[in-house]
Amino acid sequence: MTRRPAVLVARAVFGDIVDRLRVHFDVEDNPADRIFSKAELIEHLQGKAGAFITGSERIDAEVLAANPQLRAVCNMAVGYNNIDIDACNARGVLATNTPDVLTETTADFGFALMMATARRMAESEHFLRRGEWTRWSYDMFTGSDVHGATLGILGMGRIGQAIARRGALGFGMKVIYHNRSRLAPEQEAPLGARYVSKEELLRTADHLVLVVPYSAASHHAIGAAEIAQMKPTATLTNIARGGVVDDAALAAALRARTIAAAGLDVFEGEPKLHPDLLTVPNVVLTPHIASATVATRRAMADLAVDNLIAALTGAAPPTPVNPQVLPLKA
Ligand code: DGY
Repeated sequence: MTRRPAVLVARAVFGDIVDRLRVHFDVEDNPADRIFSKAELIEHLQGKAGAFITGSERIDAEVLAANPQLRAVCNMAVGYNNIDIDACNARGVLATNTPDVLTETTADFGFALMMATARRMAESEHFLRRGEWTRWSYDMFTGSDVHGATLGILGMGRIGQAIARRGALGFGMKVIYHNRSRLAPEQEAPLGARYVSKEELLRTADHLVLVVPYSAASHHAIGAAEIAQMKPTATLTNIARGGVVDDAALAAALRARTIAAAGLDVFEGEPKLHPDLLTVPNVVLTPHIASATVATRRAMADLAVDNLIAALTGAAPPTPVNPQVLPLKA
């Protein structure tokens, strides 16, 4: 009898979805949800043909070299900056991600975080919880309008466009964006979206939302120099990745009121935060939950499992990042 391929499910995830893998493979899972160190990850991957991973597991050249039998790493995330794609290509390892299924959920959250930031919802709630609310006053927690304002988007992929739709069609916002490539006219027209330089985006946006993937090129795309170009009344929302923003520079700018406020769902070095972000009042902080609805997290897990099953059974994986490595060697 031929042995079934073995796979690792590196983090705890919906049990019934893990069970789909058990139909095809010998599964080592991690119900205790221990976050593996690199050495532990290398060890747990021994003998595995594939892995279900999340953004918490870093798959780099060293991990791949220590596991030459590995053929597929399937990320439960649309972002895949935790995977060294060049190293995967060099070894013929397939990487997959989970695009599309989280677009609308993540856009909902990005828009909500931008609104909470503009209207100072966290700051005013903390004030109320501290028992400091004693009377109404005309300028108490005055923020800035979202409707009719200029929405700036850095990174106009699927999620950026979904946020632009919410702003343009739901809130009458003027949409400007900067991206590696400009959208086609038929994509821009329904949103009235205008392609601008990064400088114009920074100078003009009332509410700047970051949705750009993380890479060496986007590292600290927003630092002190960029923040200095923004309006003092502007807000900055980051649902992209920690590292796109220089968090130390942002904390300093928030304290100095160089910009009005920020909404952050992702952080450099998360789950640790730059300590100054915890003490400045004009920031809304959430723990990387933009895609966190039950339906969407299930859809992401299902898609990662679909990819892993397809990759190791010779079918076409639905969402490969590096399809050039297909077909995988047996
Ligand atoms: C993604 O999909 O990249 C998210 O950041 C993980 O929830």
